[in-house]
Amino acid sequence: MVKMTFIGHSCFLLDNGKHKILIDPFIKGNPVAKTTDAVKKPDFILISHGHGDHLGDAIEIARASDAMVISNNEIATYCGTKGVKRFHPLHIGGGNKFDFGSLKLTIAHHGSSLGDNYQYGGSPAGFIIRIDGKIIYHAGDTGLFLDMKLIGELDKIDVALLPIGGNFTMDVGDAVKAVEFLHPQKAIPMHYNTFDLVAADPREFINKIKSLGVEGIILKPGETYELN
Ligand code: NI
Ligand code: MN
Repeated sequence: MVKMTFIGHSCFLLDNGKHKILIDPFIKGNPVAKTTDAVKKPDFILISHGHGDHLGDAIEIARASDAMVISNNEIATYCGTKGVKRFHPLHIGGGNKFDFGSLKLTIAHHGSSLGDNYQYGGSPAGFIIRIDGKIIYHAGDTGLFLDMKLIGELDKIDVALLPIGGNFTMDVGDAVKAVEFLHPQKAIPMHYNTFDLVAADPREFINKIKSLGVEGIILKPGETYELN
């Protein structure tokens, strides 16, 4: 069983009882984040791209916990220059096995830059995470793209975590189309209602994907979904 706790925005903590995986840990400065002590002690931290609302507190948490940072080559290496001891670079279309299962980076159509000087952050990414026989797709920040059909064809996705807030990413309408392309078992909306710029109604998303035969789950920050 994998417990999926929504911390807020695009941040999730996955916990299968043996390993804790923290994704896009934007906590400080996140007005909606509901964090827990477990967030401070992950085994792995995944970073989808370089923007502050995704890289977030990753470096600080990794330094304090000795968690392994996994991201694209540019971001993983950048974290290494900032005092993170354990980091693993991957890149788009590539993946590897880790103690929890495996991780592969997918494309995401977005930007990626690091720090105040807008250092190049490599290509933004999404994640295909295999853990305990389940497949979780975290799309990162992205617009809609037709290759989601391929992602859904290559892996039978149990849960898709999809941005719905618009402005920087897909809005509800495009995220519904993404569900049609990916055909996951379940979908959880993210990257909405953190700021006014990404205001969206998750119920509209849930209702629309129901007609595609896909169950939508709305998690409030701090809530956990148990994936069995
Ligand atoms: Ni972004
Ligand atoms: Mn973002």
